[in-house]
This record gives sequence, C-alpha cells and structure tokens, in this order.
Amino acid sequence: MASCLEIAKKAAYEGGMIAKRSFCNVKIHNKTEKDLVTSADLAAEKKILQIIRKAFPQHGIFSEEFGKENYGRENTWIIDPIDGTNNFAFGIPLYGCSVAFARKGVVQAGAVYLPELKELYWAEKGKGAFCNGKRIHVSKRQPFAKSLILMDACFHHGEKNYVPLVDVFAARALGMRNLGAAVYHILWCANGKADCSVEFLLQPYDFAAAALILEEAGGRVSDLEGKKYSLETKALVFSNNLVHEEILGMVREIRLQ
Ligand code: IPD
Ligand code: CA
Ligand code: CA
Repeated sequence: MASCLEIAKKAAYEGGMIAKRSFCNVKIHNKTEKDLVTSADLAAEKKILQIIRKAFPQHGIFSEEFGKENYGRENTWIIDPIDGTNNFAFGIPLYGCSVAFARKGVVQAGAVYLPELKELYWAEKGKGAFCNGKRIHVSKRQPFAKSLILMDACFHHGEKNYVPLVDVFAARALGMRNLGAAVYHILWCANGKADCSVEFLLQPYDFAAAALILEEAGGRVSDLEGKKYSLETKALVFSNNLVHEEILGMVREIRLQ
C-alpha cells in the first residue's frame, strides 16, 4: 500500500498538472467580491479527491472548494487544489497545488507542486524537506534588516488593522514582496530564497503542507505571539528561525488593535 507521503506527492503533482494544462484557458467565477474560483480549481480538486479516496477511503477530507467530509476523523487530508487562484485567473504563473495529511490535527506529511517551475516539494515529519528529491534548507540570513520578507497585501480586509505592522516590516527589512500565493511565500522561505513571511487570515489548506515543509527545512512557524500554531491559527509567522524573535518583537511593539 502506498504511504500517505506518496499519495500526497501524487495528488499534488496530478492536481497541479491539471491546473497547468488549462492555464490561461479557464472559466472564472467570483466566489466572493475579491475571491475567484476557476474551472481548473474544480477539475484539479476532483482528481485529488479521487486519488485520496481510492487509497484511503476511511480518511476525512477538508478541501477548499469541496468543503469537509468526515473532518475531525483521526486521519484527515487538507487540500488546496490551486493556491494563488487569483494569480492563476489573471495569467500570472505563481500558483501551486497543496496536499497535506494530518493525524489528530497534526500534519504528518505534505506535498506542494509548483507546476510552472516543475518543482515538487515534500516533507514527512522528522525526515527533512525536499524539492525534486534534493534536501532543502532555510537561509542563514540575519538580522531582519538584511532579510527579504514575503507578505500578502490582503491584510487590510480583516477584522484587525494590520497596516501599521506592515509599515514597520517594510521600513526595517531589506525588501518586501507579495507573490500572491501563500505556498510560494512559505516554500521560498523553506528553500532559502526569502527569509520570512507573515500571513494573516489563512485557512488550514493555505499552509498545512507548506508549513511542515518549512519546519523540516529548519524553519520556524508560530502564531503572532510566538506560540505553537495549529491548523486553526489564522495569522502566522514563518521564518528561517534566525529572524523570528525580531519579527515577534515588532508585533509586540505595534500591538495590533
Ligand atoms: C489565497 C492565497 C493568498 C493568501 C490568501 C489565500 P487561494 O489562497 O494563498 O496568497 O493571502 O489568504 O486565501 O484563494 O488563492 O487558494
Ligand atoms: Ca489558498
Ligand atoms: Ca485555492
């Protein structure tokens, strides 16, 4: 029987390839005013669910477009068929397909495929992080003043005003980018291209797989207070570990309203 990691890799790869094949040729709908969904999200998700249900029919599922099925079971799959849907819909090739397996709410294995880069990232708890079969590691850059921070610009749509915090990060980091896909932000910290990412208003499927990959690459993930995160955490700090405390210090300094 295939392992959960093997199924996560297969599902992320095949889902990502379905997205890639229809890139720039999809039907687009508005889910909410600012959130899009495309025919490719649904087609990729269908394939991923097929692969998982065939291998593990008893397991629970939480997938962005499909929703929940037996969620809360000891073994659950957390799926984002396309992370970066708005990029995808606008023809911007920064998107990925994310599949994670969790036991009792803790992610044990995860895979993310970035189809346009032909990069398959994966990790299993305690066994390191890989991209296309090669070990990956976070950067050694510090302090924060020398680092590149990746952040999403949706920060002002939440219940809290994150703008002052973003202002401080932008002023004190070497650079700031918004790539429009949480998986890119987290994975590019995992492979050392960037050094940290602070994300607000996330859902479990946005980060479940990528967060494990980052931790297994030597990084740190926490909530905004530095506490252990769970799949229910909405605002998270992802880093190379070395700049993490500085980020938490800035969060304390700004004290979100
Ligand atoms: C979104 C992206 C975005 C993040 C949003 C997510 P989606 O996921 O990851 O970067 O800031 O919070 O919802 O909708 O493209 O799957
Ligand atoms: Ca997402
Ligand atoms: Ca999505």
